[in-house]
Amino acid sequence: MSILIRDLRPDDLRDVESVVRVRRAALPFLITSAGDLTFELSSAHPAKHHRVLVAETPDGEVLGTAQAGIAHDSPRPGQGYVNAYVDPARRGIGAGRLLLRTAEEHLAAQGAVDSYAWVLDEPAHRAFAERHGYRPGRSGHFLRLDLAAAELPALPDALPAGVELLPAEAFAADPRPLFAIDAEATADEPSDVGADLDDYQDWLNHTWHHPSLDKTLTIVALVDGRAVAFSAARTDGATRYGSAMTGTLRAFRGRGLAKLAKNASLHRARAAGYTEAFTGNDSGNEPMLAINRWFGYEICATETHFTRRLGTQWPSN
Ligand SMILES: CC(C)(COP(=O)(O)OP(=O)(O)OC[C@H]1O[C@@H](n2cnc3c(N)ncnc32)[C@H](O)[C@@H]1OP(=O)(O)O)[C@@H](O)C(=O)NCCC(=O)NCCS
Repeated sequence: MSILIRDLRPDDLRDVESVVRVRRAALPFLITSAGDLTFELSSAHPAKHHRVLVAETPDGEVLGTAQAGIAHDSPRPGQGYVNAYVDPARRGIGAGRLLLRTAEEHLAAQGAVDSYAWVLDEPAHRAFAERHGYRPGRSGHFLRLDLAAAELPALPDALPAGVELLPAEAFAADPRPLFAIDAEATADEPSDVGADLDDYQDWLNHTWHHPSLDKTLTIVALVDGRAVAFSAARTDGATRYGSAMTGTLRAFRGRGLAKLAKNASLHRARAAGYTEAFTGNDSGNEPMLAINRWFGYEICATETHFTRRLGTQWPSN
């Protein structure tokens, strides 16, 4: 079958929804919507060279999709990313291979040295990555909590002296304190590629203004009036709640503030009618995994971050 690879047409709602359908089928633990996808393209920093590719048949059936670009905020230059998803019902006809080839050509043209890809821990997916010259690195878990049924830890009757909890919307006039926490937390999150958040405008563009960020469910912990920890929530506006980042300034870790902020957020989310909570953690992130176990989250899938040095030939099949 001949398969065409092209860029997503962000102004064509049917095209956008086809890509959302494939992403949801491939990774049901992520919150994905048409609005998020168009925002992903429109808010991307120019240095990311972010593209969303589509694999389709000559009669216009979308078989798969990939997003590819440069991790422009990594402390190591030349780190590219490609995440390819093929409709589970349309695997094995070459869409994944063509998506990967087109994405790698794009990365190489933008000066990438390495290509990183998240791959589900299923034999067929790992074999696909290895066949194309990729080698495994760190792994990460998707975790799920049945929020409707969970026995969440009780909220404390009184907060510790000097501690206050506020929703993120209280920082609407000046969210810079939350950027400062996010920058420190992101730098400390275990990762193969890393990220230095030093561009406040870029953070406003793609994090603070993210259409799924719920600023009433995102909870900030303050100590003596200073914002020091938060737990960020994204939702689908219906039943699904996802953690976007939980972070505490280094000087305030180990005092229970992340637990406090996330617990308040989960309680509010349940009261607002959300029934399922999702998150993703590096498999070596012991503090965050301990916190999520405390809430009752369970691992529902594992991915491995595979990498390939670009500029070398794909092994022959
Ligand atoms: C993860 C993070 C948010 C925790 O913040 P915190 O305010 O220190 O968290 P808390 O004090 O509320 O709780 C930490 C819990 O982890 C446990 N913990 C800490 N280090 C641990 C380790 N090495 N192994 C196992 N558990 C550990 C603590 O014992 C504590 O549980 P306890 O209250 O039962 O003792 C903070 O370390 C951080 O900002 N890290 C970088 C950002 C990050 O990785 N965020 C998660 C992204 S998915």
